[in-house]
Amino acid sequence: MSDKVKELISKCLQARDMAYCPYSRFPVAAAVLTADGAIITGCNVENASYGLTVCAERTAIQRAVVEGYRKFTAIAVTCDIKDRFVGPCGACRQVLMEFGSDWIVYLTKPDGSYKETSLLELLPLAFSPAHLAKN
Ligand code: THU
Repeated sequence: MSDKVKELISKCLQARDMAYCPYSRFPVAAAVLTADGAIITGCNVENASYGLTVCAERTAIQRAVVEGYRKFTAIAVTCDIKDRFVGPCGACRQVLMEFGSDWIVYLTKPDGSYKETSLLELLPLAFSPAHLAKN
């Protein structure tokens, strides 16, 4: 594992402690790696009006965009489930696709072990910004 991936995983695991999930009690965290090596984290932020909950992956992306980043190479995602690798929800896959299809995705268990996959694998035949380009 490269030092950068180690750092990405470690920051992702730390961010899980920040999850605001009083309703589900299901903490989730994400950490995105930008093309120039910065790491931005996110956690789920729930709401008493349940549907307004924002997933960890999306809080990470939104923070990153506000910080001026739009090029990403990888994302790590983690939750409390110890016995299997858990992927991002469908909505978050689409939000990641907005910023390119060639993301590496590290599905990470609480002990830091991970399964490496890709956004293309998680969201095949996706709708993407390219489809909006005029013919
Ligand atoms: N959640 C995420 O943060 N990311 C996902 O990809 C799936 C679900 C959150 C939303 C909610 O706060 C909790 O997990 C239970 O659904």
